[in-house]
Amino acid sequence: MKNDILAKLPASFPWRGNLHCYHSIDSTNTSAKRLASAGAPHGTMVIADMQTHGRGRMGRSFHSPEGTGIYLSLILRPNLPADQLMHLTCAAAVAVADGIERAAGLRPNIKWTNDLVAGGKKLGGILTELSLRHGSTVEYAVIGIGINCCQKEDAFPPELQDIATSLHMCTDKNIVRSTVISEIIVALEQMSQQLGCSSDILQRYRADCITIGQEISLLLPNEIRHGKALDVDENAALVVKFDDGKIESVHSGEVSIRGMYGYV
Ligand code: BTN
Repeated sequence: MKNDILAKLPASFPWRGNLHCYHSIDSTNTSAKRLASAGAPHGTMVIADMQTHGRGRMGRSFHSPEGTGIYLSLILRPNLPADQLMHLTCAAAVAVADGIERAAGLRPNIKWTNDLVAGGKKLGGILTELSLRHGSTVEYAVIGIGINCCQKEDAFPPELQDIATSLHMCTDKNIVRSTVISEIIVALEQMSQQLGCSSDILQRYRADCITIGQEISLLLPNEIRHGKALDVDENAALVVKFDDGKIESVHSGEVSIRGMYGYV
């Protein structure tokens, strides 16, 4: 896999020497965090053919079977305080959408904040983890990306069949993972240079974000609130008009869109 990816990256690509490829690993994010703690440089990437303990947001697991998906984690050392990196996951999502579009001819939508979606089903997700120094400066960020690539419909476990899709299922094309990975990596490197321009990034994010304009429900620890998503603000928060008339910025939590992933 490593040689296939390197063959497809531009010769001048600055992160060529930072690629760590494994057949099987617990989680590429966990591995990247271990490397980052040991001093691995900005632009270090961990890629695996399968994960035994792939992780998603909210403590969920991420289904990571062998040879059919992309499991990629990138270490960034952005030299910015955490409060200027609120848009990091959004920036990564737009970059991943760019890479997928170039490699597979399909531009995924983004379900706020971190799901990549095609045909109303989940194509992949992003798990961003930060290590903070003195509580405010970012020591490093790990951006973990999982994309379903080559699966056919019956390859997903029963509980995922109605909500998950793959690039192959959406395009009917033969998807070559190393091609998708190299395009995503190139797009991520460009994104990393533009992180200071959060307004531009969020403008692009809004164009891809299918949550805006939808009826949503926000799952909180002790209640579910319903409303309509109006916008994504300059801090990457989802602006929601709740059914009680209040307009609030939602920074985190589980947001379901009516009509998607089985939510009626
Ligand atoms: C989500 O959908 O909640 C986020 C899923 C993120 C999965 C990727 S796969 C590569 C990286 N390693 C992990 O353990 N998780 C991320």
